[in-house]
Amino acid sequence: MNENKPLSLGVLISGTGTNLQAIIDEIEAGRLSARIAVVISNRSRAPGLERARRHGLETMVIDHRGFASREEFDRQLAAVLNRHGVELVVCAGFMRLLSPVMLDAFPNRIMNIHPSLLPAFPGINAQRAALQHGARWTGCTVFFVSAGVDDGPIIIQAVVPILPDDDEGRLSARILCQEHRIYPYAIRLYQEGRLELQQRRVVVRGALLVPPDQAWLNPPLAAC
Ligand code: GRF
Repeated sequence: MNENKPLSLGVLISGTGTNLQAIIDEIEAGRLSARIAVVISNRSRAPGLERARRHGLETMVIDHRGFASREEFDRQLAAVLNRHGVELVVCAGFMRLLSPVMLDAFPNRIMNIHPSLLPAFPGINAQRAALQHGARWTGCTVFFVSAGVDDGPIIIQAVVPILPDDDEGRLSARILCQEHRIYPYAIRLYQEGRLELQQRRVVVRGALLVPPDQAWLNPPLAAC
């Protein structure tokens, strides 16, 4: 990877695309040296497609229902991403599991974001699961996609408290705010060549360290 060259991204979406928007905003503000080569949705009506078009980005719909298997869909996906010279694949609310076809085409070059502190609450409805479990903290995680569901090497996490009067909507909104901060940041770390994979651990070179005595309590001790 050439650290001076803008990174070529392929963004995969299925829905609203607010994470896509956060990435576009960082690029346009000059804080992320990248270009979005193509935005691909598996759903033709994904509102995120309109966001992409508003910013002059190339979009494409590849409807998974037109393919006999997950592998065939992934072969088409990989072909389009390669044709656009994509270096890093960014899943941003992309509601499809990727098969080995995609993982082999882009080894350690696919990122995803999940609205929980993995490995807690993988899979769908993660915010609801954290609430129902009675967890005091949840958050969001950016990770490299691997064969397991939401199981790949973790790049960065943000911690979000669960408040006594939270419902799924309020909690999801607060998590989403943090997603918009950490996803562009994770891509930037990748672009700067600062992510080093050691087995399943991602070492972030030159990162500030969290003070070793820093811990968060919820509820805080003072309230007890
Ligand atoms: C986010 O909560 C993300 O963590 C999950 O799907 C949601 C996508 O939101 N994978 P958006 O489409 O980026 O607004």
